[in-house]
Amino acid sequence: MAKFHQSYEVCTCKHVSLAEIKHAIIDRNADTIEKIGEFTDAGTSCKCCQDSSTDIGAEKMELYLTQILNKFKKDI
Ligand code: FES
Repeated sequence: MAKFHQSYEVCTCKHVSLAEIKHAIIDRNADTIEKIGEFTDAGTSCKCCQDSSTDIGAEKMELYLTQILNKFKKDI
């Protein structure tokens, strides 16, 4: 995930960046996809950014909320 910049837009529907999602997980203790959605709005529209299994877009996302959650939840 290191190749993704903090300003990388993970959720293109709601324009939510990697930094905002990290902040929700690390500083606000979001430990589920639902909570990330509550705090940032990410993943609350088409849901393509939540996980590869919910990605129904023609062009697949490069980074999913589940990946970010798994990476940063461990550090809490
Ligand atoms: S890309 Fe995140 S809800 Fe659509």
